Parts: sequence; C-alpha cells; structure tokens
Amino acid sequence: MRLDRPVVFGNWKMNGLRAEGLALAGALADRAVRLTGTLGIFPPFTLVHAVAQRVKDTAILVGGQDCHERASGAFTGCVSAPMLADAGAKAVILGHSERRHGLGETDALICAKFRAARAAGLLVVLCIGETEAEYLAGERNARLAAQIAGSLPEGIGPEGLVVAYEPVWAIGTGRTPSTEEIRAIHGELRALLAKRIVGGDTVPLLYGGSVKPENAAEIMALADVDGVLVGGASLDARSFWSIYQAGGGA
Ligand code: PGA
Repeated sequence: MRLDRPVVFGNWKMNGLRAEGLALAGALADRAVRLTGTLGIFPPFTLVHAVAQRVKDTAILVGGQDCHERASGAFTGCVSAPMLADAGAKAVILGHSERRHGLGETDALICAKFRAARAAGLLVVLCIGETEAEYLAGERNARLAAQIAGSLPEGIGPEGLVVAYEPVWAIGTGRTPSTEEIRAIHGELRALLAKRIVGGDTVPLLYGGSVKPENAAEIMALADVDGVLVGGASLDARSFWSIYQAGGGA
C-alpha cells in the first residue's frame, strides 16, 4: 500500500453513533474521491463496516483502533484482525497510549497483536510515546527506544508499518512539544527504525497529540514528520480536512 505524504489519520476513539459517524464519513467522502496524500479514519468497531461501505468509492482508508492477538477463540468482547479485515478495514492502530496506560497493554502484547494484524494483511499504525513523568525525568528517548524494540516483531520489513509518536501528556490536553523537539525526536526515531528494520528509514512517521488546524502546517513542514494522527479534531470534517490541507494534501 502506497502512503503518499501527507499521511493524515483520524482516531475517532469511543465516539460516534451510526448517524453521526456516517455523516462525518460522508462529509469526508465528498472531498476525497481522489487524494494527493493519504487520509485515513479509525471509527469504533461498531462502525467499521458501515463507514468502509460509505467511503468505498473514495481514496479514504478505514481502520480499527485495536485488535486481539489471536485470530478467533473464546475471548469475550474482543475483535480479531481477520474480523476487522472482513469488515472492510485496511489498517489498525496498535499501542495507543489509552490502551497502554488505561488498559495495561505491554510491548509484548502489542508485538503479538502486530503479528496478528500483519497476518491479516492490515497496515499497522504503531503508537509510541512517553508519559509526562518520563519526559520530566529525561527518560523520553530511552522509553521510545524500548517501545520500538519491544513492540516490533523480529524480522519485519518496512511495508505496512506507520509509526506515530504521541507524547502521552500531549494527547487531548492542548499542549504539544515545541516544533524543535518534534523535529529532533522524529530524527532520532528515523535513525532508530533504520537500525531496527532493513529499509526502516522509509517508514512514515506521524506526530500525534493535540494536532489542530492551527498548528498542523508548522508540524507537518518538518522534514521527518510525514503526517499526523489526530484525535479530537478528527471528529469534525472541516477541521480534519483543513489539517490534511495544512500538510499539503489536496
Ligand atoms: P488528540 O488525540 O488529537 O485529541 O490529542 C490524539 C490521539 O490520541 O491519537
């Protein structure tokens, strides 16, 4: 799957009943029959199929927000990677901080989910990021390196992988690192991925955490920022589309 810049993904989180989810998808579909960049939306599981159907004649990518590490079985309430693919998803977000910190997901579990997603042919959007305490203690780089080392299966290639750097303290808070910090971190991530994966320097790197139409252009102008992962501002079609345009997308 070719991911042209800017790569702009919207994580709807636990938002959207059928009517509003389809209205949002429809408003984006009207703008996105053809795209110069990559636009993706990640609705809740309940809407993946309906949203995928709604945007099927456009270039919009639809994904799930998580998957189970097994393909099927006695796992009440869980959704597997083949189920997501069967519902029309082409991608899945793994390792989001709301799952790492809110639900106790470990790097090892995320790595197992990664293998399952790959086996089902899904693009993986792997989220990594430090907490505020780690940031203040100067442990950010070590944390990010550990998450990359622990969450990526051995021997994978760069295809079908996107890495999203999302500082936990920037998610939904209105706070972001400075552009200089984002530039430096993304440069380091690029180097880390190049060491870990053959061709890893080609993996698209997204920034996430309080991205808005107002700050999107400055962030996406940075050389090692290939796009953004957007939470709150992706729930409004106009905001989400203007973020995509701010990254040079049309
Ligand atoms: P936010 O969320 O844009 O609302 O900060 C980003 C994310 O959690 O992916």
